[in-house]
Amino acid sequence: MVYFSATGTTKGVAERIALVTNADLYEIIPAEPYSSDDLDWHDSNSRTSIEMNDPDARLAIASDTISLDIYSTVYIGYPIWWGDAPRIMSTFVESYDFSDKTVIPFCTSGGSGIGRSGDNLKDLANGGNWLSGDRLDAGISESEIQDWINDLN
Ligand SMILES: Cc1cc2nc3c(=O)[nH]c(=O)nc-3n(C[C@H](O)[C@H](O)[C@H](O)COP(=O)(O)O)c2cc1C
Repeated sequence: MVYFSATGTTKGVAERIALVTNADLYEIIPAEPYSSDDLDWHDSNSRTSIEMNDPDARLAIASDTISLDIYSTVYIGYPIWWGDAPRIMSTFVESYDFSDKTVIPFCTSGGSGIGRSGDNLKDLANGGNWLSGDRLDAGISESEIQDWINDLN
């Protein structure tokens, strides 16, 4: 389980999925943390607005490199920003080899679905069997997570 979470919502869901699946948990930490001003989507000049307007933005990751080799399934969680995954997720998926892995994207959001965000990450990634993934509610319970996993395809 690898996730990025700017304000803790995705983190909470990721922790519950990790409990249900007995997964190891890795957080993607940006080299430059996001301030609340950075996260202001009402401001077209905020840091996130500028990043999300630039598909080629690649944010540096501060957390340690993950030994993904030992895993056959990887859950990847992130918040939806402007209908897509935050650009730091592009950095992440371009930094690892997903061939021979099943990749399960999931997101949290204010209401938007996962949209094309998982497919966009798949297109940037090196291989892997990418499932279509889903948006999960911030308050999803462990039994609902289990149902979600049972229905994944
Ligand atoms: C810059 C920015 C853009 C966002 N864009 C969307 C969006 O397009 N659709 C949506 O439903 N929510 C949007 N949100 C809300 C977040 O997706 C939502 O609050 C998410 O659960 C935050 O997860 P986190 O606490 O793990 O960072 C946006 C939030 C931010 C900060």
